[in-house]
Amino acid sequence: MSSALLPALLALQVFNICGGSLLLNGAVGESIVLPTGAERSYKGGLIEWRRKDINIIKLVRNTTEINPNFTGRLTMNDETGALNISNLREEDSGEYTFSGIASAQTIPRKTVQLQVYERIVSVQVISQVNNSTDSGSCNITLICSVNGGSQVALSWSRNGQNVAGAENRTTLTAFPTLAEEIYVCTATNPISSQSNNVTVWPCRVPPGLSLGALMSVLFSIGLVAMVSAVIAVNIRERCSRGKLGLGKEDTSVRGEATIHI
Ligand SMILES: *[C@@H]1O[C@H](CO)[C@@H](O)[C@H](O)[C@H]1NC(C)=O
Ligand SMILES: *[C@@H]1O[C@H](CO)[C@@H](O)[C@H](O)[C@H]1NC(C)=O
Ligand SMILES: *[C@@H]1O[C@H](CO)[C@@H](O)[C@H](O)[C@H]1NC(C)=O
Ligand SMILES: *[C@@H]1O[C@H](CO)[C@@H](O)[C@H](O)[C@H]1NC(C)=O
Ligand SMILES: *[C@@H]1O[C@H](CO)[C@@H](O)[C@H](O)[C@H]1NC(C)=O
Ligand SMILES: *[C@@H]1O[C@H](CO)[C@@H](O)[C@H](O)[C@H]1NC(C)=O
Ligand SMILES: *[C@@H]1O[C@H](CO)[C@@H](O)[C@H](O)[C@H]1NC(C)=O
Ligand SMILES: *[C@@H]1O[C@H](CO)[C@@H](O)[C@H](O)[C@H]1NC(C)=O
Repeated sequence: MSSALLPALLALQVFNICGGSLLLNGAVGESIVLPTGAERSYKGGLIEWRRKDINIIKLVRNTTEINPNFTGRLTMNDETGALNISNLREEDSGEYTFSGIASAQTIPRKTVQLQVYERIVSVQVISQVNNSTDSGSCNITLICSVNGGSQVALSWSRNGQNVAGAENRTTLTAFPTLAEEIYVCTATNPISSQSNNVTVWPCRVPPGLSLGALMSVLFSIGLVAMVSAVIAVNIRERCSRGKLGLGKEDTSVRGEATIHI
């Protein structure tokens, strides 16, 4: 894209937003009012709201017709035409158009883009230490789970700094080396945001010793101790027998030493 084209495109977009429809975000289960920007009273006229060419509500004098999909959920101000939709559902999302005739004049059309989202209820972050048995290293897996919410975007921070490249990731691996670190997972959608945090500490397996290495070291120490004991007993027996001038019956001595261990 050429740099000369960019400002032109931006200007076009701004124009579209200004000249186009109003954008509103609603929350499932809650209510929202679609305004008409009325500058005079439309009372006694014919006013209506449509969505995708389907009538939602139509008011002719004092008679109101309501689309069955919205029964019990709509109230329209008979002077301004502002539409209150309550107990919102995600399928209420779409483009709504207001039009009508009042005092023998056509009312300027008004368009509202409604987008309904679920509110994010809560966020949980848990950490799991993951020890490697063969390489002797460890790391910490962080898992972020979101309760509720639609079209949720996730982000992470470590000690208050955004973690680059972690957008929308539900798991993250932490390698704290020196001190504790605080990780915050934030869930955001256009109508809500929730976050939670977890503190992780450096995880360490004894340097140079994996579990397997540790086992063989312990085994070796045990073996050396055992052999030394046998030798020690043998020597002691040899010495005492030597003093007594015997120096025979090695096998019985060895047998005795084995029983002691
Ligand atoms: C509409 O209003 C008129 C008087 O203003 C009344 O006679 C008529 O019964 C009303 N109709 C309805 C459906 O309420
Ligand atoms: C009611 O909603 C359903 C599902 O969105 C749609 O198929 C149906 O056409 C709607 N009915 C009316 C009268 O708008
Ligand atoms: C819209 O209607 C709901 C349900 O009747 C009501 O609780 C809410 O206050 C209304 N909103 C406005 C702005 O009047
Ligand atoms: C440790 O990490 C491996 C590979 O990343 C994974 O398969 C395993 O489930 C993890 N264990 C724990 C306890 O987190
Ligand atoms: C985390 O540790 C596990 C097991 O120790 C290992 O399989 C995994 O590759 C490690 N993950 C990272 C990102 O280093
Ligand atoms: C993250 O997910 C949200 C919702 O699905 C989406 O709108 C957004 O573009 C995603 N962000 C990235 C960086 O992928
Ligand atoms: C971490 O969460 C607790 C509540 O769970 C909150 O009190 C604390 O302020 C949070 N800390 C940070 C750094 O977000
Ligand atoms: C990981 O290793 C550390 C230190 O050796 C130990 O305290 C911790 O319990 C181990 N965690 C797991 C999940 O094995």
